[in-house]
Amino acid sequence: MFRKKALTRIEIAAVLAERWSGRAYDPDRPVERDKLLALLEAARWAPSCFGDQPWRYLIWERLAEPERWRRALGCLTEGNRRWAFRAPLLLLACADSRFRDGRPNPWGPYDTGAASMSLAIEAMALGLMVHQMGGFDAGKIRAEFAIPERYECMAMMTVGYQLPEDQIPDELKEREYAPRSRRPLAESFFMGEWGNSFEP
Ligand SMILES: Cc1cc2nc3c(=O)[nH]c(=O)nc-3n(C[C@H](O)[C@H](O)[C@H](O)COP(=O)(O)O)c2cc1C
Repeated sequence: MFRKKALTRIEIAAVLAERWSGRAYDPDRPVERDKLLALLEAARWAPSCFGDQPWRYLIWERLAEPERWRRALGCLTEGNRRWAFRAPLLLLACADSRFRDGRPNPWGPYDTGAASMSLAIEAMALGLMVHQMGGFDAGKIRAEFAIPERYECMAMMTVGYQLPEDQIPDELKEREYAPRSRRPLAESFFMGEWGNSFEP
């Protein structure tokens, strides 16, 4: 697997350092059912406010349901469709806007993001690649798949195996090889007071 390990000041867990959002999927290598099950179990066991588990996922398998998969692909922006069409699995993460008892749940998107990250980390551990996408038409996918109003469509994602490095298409090479970067720690993490940068 082509790796783009995060540059960290200190060693972190390999699955975290090595997770990255690739675009070059192997279209001929489906995701095994037990691996999909493992991804969903990882998401299911994410933490959530009051244990309410606000996440819901819609899953489309290209080989099993090509027509539905194509309709889901059609909800992505053109830029995302250009590479996502190779992925054998498409997912949509939705967040319940209400708790079980009907009160509004402001943490629904937060908890759903945690579940998606758990899924992405499990994928990394299994040698799979996940790429989350905000670039999709939420109204269109809601209408296409009759998603109830109380669920917010948060992100779509591709899941699959990476293409062998010598098969990465030319049009993807630049982005696949671009270095990963993050703001310095001091700009995101404050000790005690806002703006008081963390210093190791
Ligand atoms: C909620 C969310 C939405 C994203 N939307 C898109 C998208 O529409 N298209 C895309 O190519 N990448 C998208 N990304 C991927 C990010 O660009 C990527 O995670 C970021 O650049 C960091 O790269 P890394 O995941 O490889 O570390 C999205 C990621 C997240 C978490």
